[in-house]
Amino acid sequence: MTEGSLSRLPRENIELPGGAVLRRRSTVSDDAFIDAVAADVGHLGEWLRWAQHPPTREETEGFRAEQDADWDAGRSFVYVLTPADRFDKVLGGGAMFPNGEDGVLEIGYWVCSPATGRGLATRAAAALTEEGLGLPGIKAMEIHCDQANVRSAGIPPRLGYRLLRIEPDEPQTAAEAGQSMVWRHDGAGPRPLLQAP
Ligand SMILES: CC(C)(COP(=O)(O)OP(=O)(O)OC[C@H]1O[C@@H](n2cnc3c(N)ncnc32)[C@H](O)[C@@H]1OP(=O)(O)O)[C@@H](O)C(=O)NCCC(=O)NCCS
Repeated sequence: MTEGSLSRLPRENIELPGGAVLRRRSTVSDDAFIDAVAADVGHLGEWLRWAQHPPTREETEGFRAEQDADWDAGRSFVYVLTPADRFDKVLGGGAMFPNGEDGVLEIGYWVCSPATGRGLATRAAAALTEEGLGLPGIKAMEIHCDQANVRSAGIPPRLGYRLLRIEPDEPQTAAEAGQSMVWRHDGAGPRPLLQAP
């Protein structure tokens, strides 16, 4: 792996057990993305800096174009979650991106409130972990999670990640405590579970 880019790209569609699909962001309409986030800023904005307000069309188009270029260049990979048979409904999203350490990809995930509590974030994180560990040159995956985000912090240990350290990090939202838990999966030990609910 050359720094910041991959020689082979991840799959654009990753089916999850239980019926949802992670799709490359640009294959789903801006309308579907905007509708989902705009309806849920109270929930998402608690922990996601980019979801503090309903997304405008202009910024959504800009981010999507940037994310598309980054995907093509092998730099980072942004997905949205949809039901298996639909491109017009966004349930959440996920991403894989470099975080500075060679051979390590970090993942992020978010699920809109109507779809929470059913294991969707866990299955999305499991699928991204498997996908990332299968890419050439990737030796480990990480999840960084503010210590105050208790629901999110429950996900990495369920998937076989181990806590490397807790480090100070500038809070990105009002809810964050400013202490970031750094979880790592190096492919050894228990592999992520991908069972249906
Ligand atoms: C945190 C967040 C991702 C959780 O999403 P979710 O889809 O509800 O998460 P999961 O369902 O996988 O896990 C949450 C709970 O569902 C339970 N669950 C239900 N069915 C499950 C299944 N089949 N498999 C695994 N867990 C299941 C889990 O045990 C977990 O229980 P808990 O209430 O003890 O935590 C979501 O609330 C969110 O997007 N928040 C805002 C953005 C955010 O915080 N992103 C993470 C930044 S680090």
